[in-house]
Amino acid sequence: YFSNERKDKMSDLTFKRHRRLRRTESMRALVRETHLRTEDLIFPIFVVEGEGVKNPVASMPGVHQVSLDYLTEEMEELVQLNIRSVIVFGVPAEKDEVGSQAYHEDGIVQKAIRQIKEEVPSLTVIADTCLCQYTDHGHCGVVRDGDIANDESLTYITQTAVSQAEAGADIIAPSNMMDGFVASIRHGLDEAGYSHIPVMSYAVKYASSFYGPFRDAAHSSPQFGDRRAYQMDPSNRLEAIREAESDVQEGADFLIVKPALSYLDIMREVKDRFNLPLVAYNVSGEYSMIKAAAQNGWVNEQEIVLEKLTSMKRAGADLIITYFAKDAAKWLKED
Ligand code: PBG
Ligand code: ZN
Repeated sequence: YFSNERKDKMSDLTFKRHRRLRRTESMRALVRETHLRTEDLIFPIFVVEGEGVKNPVASMPGVHQVSLDYLTEEMEELVQLNIRSVIVFGVPAEKDEVGSQAYHEDGIVQKAIRQIKEEVPSLTVIADTCLCQYTDHGHCGVVRDGDIANDESLTYITQTAVSQAEAGADIIAPSNMMDGFVASIRHGLDEAGYSHIPVMSYAVKYASSFYGPFRDAAHSSPQFGDRRAYQMDPSNRLEAIREAESDVQEGADFLIVKPALSYLDIMREVKDRFNLPLVAYNVSGEYSMIKAAAQNGWVNEQEIVLEKLTSMKRAGADLIITYFAKDAAKWLKED
């Protein structure tokens, strides 16, 4: 009489028993390779002018635009959940041709940063540095003869970065995809006495349809054309390496790959090639798709979100910017 196991050994069949390491939860925990931690999550927040404003964003259930009087309680909630950093997006009351509210001393983002650093100083405040929410045409740079003028845009984007550092930002995160933005911002920060402030570059940013809901939240849709003359073609991989390479040379301290889920291959490649902390931006469309499916009862939201965030870490991301940060922190706490 032989047990099944014994029979396998006796036969000519030889094979590996991978299931040995999956037998119990504690065994699975022993051999787990990727760990999602609350400390890895960066929470995006949209701040608006006004008082008592907590506007739900229709295409992003659970996400709000908040005015400054709600900001502190929002930030305290993050600290309680053990989330350490926030990325701030401003939605200004006024827009103009060059996006001057982006670098105004009392612009909405500058006020928000100052308030957070004053009232919840333990949070790391990341400033998104771009012009698209602030320009009346909605492009990320200034428009000349129907084109986005690269070098002139650098002047404004650098001025914006310096004003954000002056307001107290801990990290500058330029997202406008002009050539040379890291070099220009690094130089500007250094000149202004902010050589200690790191640059988290949106180094690899694709022209993606997954940004749709964000543009509702930030009122930043281009009013003509699209962003394909400055954001990357989703078909390209080698170009992502070139983009990351130049940002590293120009002095970037972190690299962002954006969006996340359709670009995990790019993330892995960037992580393997460059020795910098890598950030995945889990963008608005990725958030809204899961929310919609979950609201219909088609997927288990908690399980699917944790699986997706884990996949980004497995692909090489060290940090994740995600609208799910609070939910994920709660779920991880319960675990
Ligand atoms: C533009 C910007 C975009 C996002 C943040 N800043 C993309 C765009 O509008 O082209 C997208 C973020 C998201 O979808 O969550 N500077
Ligand atoms: Zn922009």
